[in-house]
Amino acid sequence: MSLYGTNNEEKSDLNKEESRFIRQRSRKLLGSLLLPLRARLWLAVIMILFSTALRVAGPALIAVGIDWALPRAINNDLMPLWMVVGAYLLAAAVGAVTVYFFLSLTAKIAQAMLFDLRNRMFVHTQKLSVEFHERYTAGRVIARQTSDLESISELLSGGLSELVVGLIFMIFTAGALLVLDPISFLVLACALVPLLILTRWFQVNTNRGFRAQRVASSTLIQNFVETMTGVRAVKAFRKEKDNEQHFGGLVETYRKLNARLIQLFGIYDPGLILIGNATVAAVLLFGGFRVLDGTLGIGVLTAAILYARRFFDPMEQIAIFYNSYQSASSALEKISGVLQEEPSVPEPENPVVIHQAQGQVSFDSVHFQYATGDQVLKPFSLEIPAGQTIALVGTTGAGKSTLAKLISRFYDPTEGVVKLDDTDLRDISNGDLRREIVMVTQEAYLFTGSVAENIQLGKPGASMEEVEQAAKAVGAHDFILKLPNGYDTDVNKRGGRVSSGQRQLISFARAFLANPSVLILDEATSSLDIPSEAMVQKGLKTLLSGRTAVIIAHRLSTVAIADRVLVMEHGSIIEDGTPEQLVAAAGKFSKLYKAWRESLV
Ligand SMILES: Nc1ncnc2c1ncn2[C@@H]1O[C@H](COP(=O)(O)OP(=O)(O)OP(=O)(O)O)[C@@H](O)[C@H]1O
Ligand SMILES: [Mg+2]
Repeated sequence: MSLYGTNNEEKSDLNKEESRFIRQRSRKLLGSLLLPLRARLWLAVIMILFSTALRVAGPALIAVGIDWALPRAINNDLMPLWMVVGAYLLAAAVGAVTVYFFLSLTAKIAQAMLFDLRNRMFVHTQKLSVEFHERYTAGRVIARQTSDLESISELLSGGLSELVVGLIFMIFTAGALLVLDPISFLVLACALVPLLILTRWFQVNTNRGFRAQRVASSTLIQNFVETMTGVRAVKAFRKEKDNEQHFGGLVETYRKLNARLIQLFGIYDPGLILIGNATVAAVLLFGGFRVLDGTLGIGVLTAAILYARRFFDPMEQIAIFYNSYQSASSALEKISGVLQEEPSVPEPENPVVIHQAQGQVSFDSVHFQYATGDQVLKPFSLEIPAGQTIALVGTTGAGKSTLAKLISRFYDPTEGVVKLDDTDLRDISNGDLRREIVMVTQEAYLFTGSVAENIQLGKPGASMEEVEQAAKAVGAHDFILKLPNGYDTDVNKRGGRVSSGQRQLISFARAFLANPSVLILDEATSSLDIPSEAMVQKGLKTLLSGRTAVIIAHRLSTVAIADRVLVMEHGSIIEDGTPEQLVAAAGKFSKLYKAWRESLV
């Protein structure tokens, strides 16, 4: 029992420490967002103080009008009454104008902050290393950029200014009442007790409700995104019915949570009205007696009643926006978490300049493990001379893609050094690295835009001739010409849809244009069918000639063009030699080779 106790305490201490750290981090982000806007922010504060003072002056002017100007008007001195009425109108008009400027100013501040935050999120998540994106799912990144930013936007464009305006209004109103009639102020102060109890109850419950609602809505979004991005698997496995039921359940939970929230408002609103009216009645009662005594002017009583009545007006808004404040602050906490992530493969501060790499790749006593666990690559050293074509084969999960990711510096080795020529990859600037080492993966991602633009990515600013030359070199030219608009066909529009093999040819052309000294193909030939592969063999040879290449392949025809084969198993290179040597050695590769020969692929 005591053991559990201490453990829990320690845990909660740790959690406290952590949540303090998170709050600090999020405050720092907020500060950095507000810093460039501070002049406008101060202006907004001055405006709101001024306009609230004017609004609150209204009932006081009425008191002056009734108790001071009215008796004089009865005695035919109309001047004081005109003055008071004029002052009342002026205060109202100037107050309205300042509120207008305040609102447009705060809207501008809010938009500027959101703009800044949106951009920072995009630029930062894009800058983060592959490691981050393999760990932090796309769904979560999307949630940061959409629903979290949305809840901050909701608070900023409306909520926050209402909250501030409401609070200042209540403070000023109570202050005016204190100056005008302390006894009525005491009555109002007594009303604060039930008000605070009711509001606290409301807040605790809605807070819980809103939190559950947010969780439900993000589960809903995640489920939706997952189903839609995996729609092919859904169709292939006839999962529609199951998904429908699961999604239906999520929607139902969401609906119930919303209904409960609405119910809470249904109790809070009438409660507020009741407390407000009871306060007005009490002020009238205690004031009425004093008017009878002659110790209180009717004007002051009228003003006191108006103040008591108006005091509760902003209460509901405040209670609601307290919640949106909470959801926005938790969103900001999450966003600040992403913004705080550092690229796990940082760019060197003083990079070694690479003019034209030879393309020799070497691994010196490299170990590697992902942040999550076991050693994926056991300690090894490897020399790949410039210009050599390597075929990397091995069972699934052996670590082939991981080795490729080390060459392209998506990850840094846990221990040891990976070098291009004689330079540690960690000392090469990102620009040089991306120019010298290009990795083409199986997914061969195409961006929205024309075929030509997609090829051009390999060498920004390349001419149309260069693009066509690259396409011809890898054997993509012919099929591109057959597309509806040739090189100008939009790859994501109807009719422009290309097959996965064609996609890979386009990405080959992109890589050819980039003309790197080291090229890595991770299963990039797997989608090519036999005839087109035969056609591509020649293109592939052109693509590979004159540079170092590492091809991760599952086909004999691809392995056949390699100078050297590496066989991987459980994170180690177990065979290394020319294809002929390995076939003769009667090891793992020779078995694989026989199996391939038998299936004639
Ligand atoms: N981002 C990651 N985080 C943690 N572990 C990973 C990650 N990527 C891969 N692994 C693990 O590392 C091991 C090697 O994976 P790798 O992708 O390198 O295999 P592979 O040889 O390319 O396999 P395949 O032929 O199936 O593509 C596997 O056990 C895998 O589970
Ligand atoms: Mg792989």
